[in-house]
Amino acid sequence: MKWTEDEIALLAPVLEQFEVDLKPLDGKNILVLCSAGGDVAFWLAKRMKQGKVTGIELDTQLLERARQKAQEQEIERVVEFHQAEKTRIPFPDNTFDALVSEFIVFPTPSPTEIGQPEMARVLKAGGMMALTDVIVVKSLPQDVRTELREIGLEYLCEAMQDDFLHWMEEAGVTEVEFVDLTPVVRPVWEKRRHSVSKEPEGFPYLLDDPNFRLGEAIFYIYVRGKKP
Ligand SMILES: C[S@@+](CC[C@H](N)C(=O)[O-])C[C@H]1O[C@@H](n2cnc3c(N)ncnc32)[C@H](O)[C@@H]1O
Repeated sequence: MKWTEDEIALLAPVLEQFEVDLKPLDGKNILVLCSAGGDVAFWLAKRMKQGKVTGIELDTQLLERARQKAQEQEIERVVEFHQAEKTRIPFPDNTFDALVSEFIVFPTPSPTEIGQPEMARVLKAGGMMALTDVIVVKSLPQDVRTELREIGLEYLCEAMQDDFLHWMEEAGVTEVEFVDLTPVVRPVWEKRRHSVSKEPEGFPYLLDDPNFRLGEAIFYIYVRGKKP
């Protein structure tokens, strides 16, 4: 899903969590994976006097939009956007002090094949990585999946929290911790639901259904860890 500017404002607790875990931001060289329209990168860059935020995004239109916005907001000195690649991060080993990712998981073969080992590769020793993801802990029937995709939830990772722990550890990341941010995203989805005139099936599945709803089968998780 892509967040709108209004939604990003409601998601401030997620961004504040990035800020807490990456602090001090100032002076750091930070990579933002899946930077989309650039909002996460801008939020970080605006809190930095020195250093650099680099966003990478696969979608060329989104990439162009983010570059344009950076120009309009006159923060190109601190933030830049690069074309991503599907299966690797186009930077050398040990480049970044910190890495932030919005939905890019391992080892899902699609839609992306970038995983924690590749993320850890570009981090410097002592660097922090902080990832968010939507995980599904129960098997979703195909029709539920289709309806969720129609409301923008195309990136769903079938995994348990322990799977994430395992993937981080396998990549050599330590001090791994989880934060369940499902309560932060629920009001954002409620608002989205009320903004449409004819409600698609996906909203009741996501918000009300006793088997599948947020907090029951679907969770928004935040995971952080350090490269030793
Ligand atoms: C769920 S969206 C991210 C939402 C975004 N952070 C926002 O604020 O709206 C996922 C994004 O990841 C991008 N993406 C998928 N695979 C990627 C890859 N290998 N490298 C970089 N970006 C990728 C997609 O093009 C899409 O824009």
